[in-house]
Amino acid sequence: MSILLNQLAETRAFIQNKVKSEAAVGIILGSGLGNLANTIKTEIAIPYEEIPHFPVSTVEGHSGKLILGELSGKKVWVMSGRFHFYEGYNPQQVIYPIRVLHTLGVKTLLLSNAAGGVNTSFKVGDLMIINDHISMFVTNPLIGKNEESIGTRFPDMSQPYCKDLIKQVQNIADANHIDIREGVYVGVTGPTFETRAEYKMIHLLGGDAVGMSTVQENIVAVHCGMKVFAVSVITDLGIREEENIITHEEVLQAAKDAEPKLTLLISELIKAL
Ligand code: HPA
Repeated sequence: MSILLNQLAETRAFIQNKVKSEAAVGIILGSGLGNLANTIKTEIAIPYEEIPHFPVSTVEGHSGKLILGELSGKKVWVMSGRFHFYEGYNPQQVIYPIRVLHTLGVKTLLLSNAAGGVNTSFKVGDLMIINDHISMFVTNPLIGKNEESIGTRFPDMSQPYCKDLIKQVQNIADANHIDIREGVYVGVTGPTFETRAEYKMIHLLGGDAVGMSTVQENIVAVHCGMKVFAVSVITDLGIREEENIITHEEVLQAAKDAEPKLTLLISELIKAL
């Protein structure tokens, strides 16, 4: 067996030894969206540092948890906190938890993130369903030996975000009078926010929002055959006439403010799955 498959088997055995329940839905909560975890009836929460082969946190006091719980009457795996490339993890470390979720039986992955708006009609606090992405500014996490038992060498990426899930969330948003946008997410490495010229370039390339996560996770999830739904909270605007200074605090606050809307959408989506 390859090193990767061995590691995944060890990680799975460790988790399944702690908890017997299974869940077919996985959720990854982005910056400022961690409170959604509080609406989950937690069965077990395992700190990342206890899980074999999970990346070791580079930031003190910033470690997350893998939670198994119940949301809308369904069992879900929740990653409260994710690993970013800009923290110094290599792409294989960033996406390792996605592969773990896959080995645990997750078939549908729901991703959330904070992102900068580059579509000029967007406002801070808007929610944007990601209907496609541009990943070329980050390292593709599938570079290296391909594990055929997980997925094909050259995955098709013509529909990286599941159309049916998008439709379902649009319907839920309509029924609850939540205004929701849709667009293309451009993945960048960070940790710098973009310059004015870079936001303009991303806009010209067809991006509606830009952020530092999600695209590598999506690629790996598609590779192993999961259905993916992803949503961005627009936490700042990249293209503005006036002076434009973006701070991490502003991003976190905007994400927090949008959390009730996002919680409703995700809870209702899980109910409908
Ligand atoms: N750029 C990149 N990543 C981000 C932004 C941004 O403006 N806002 C939140 N995450």
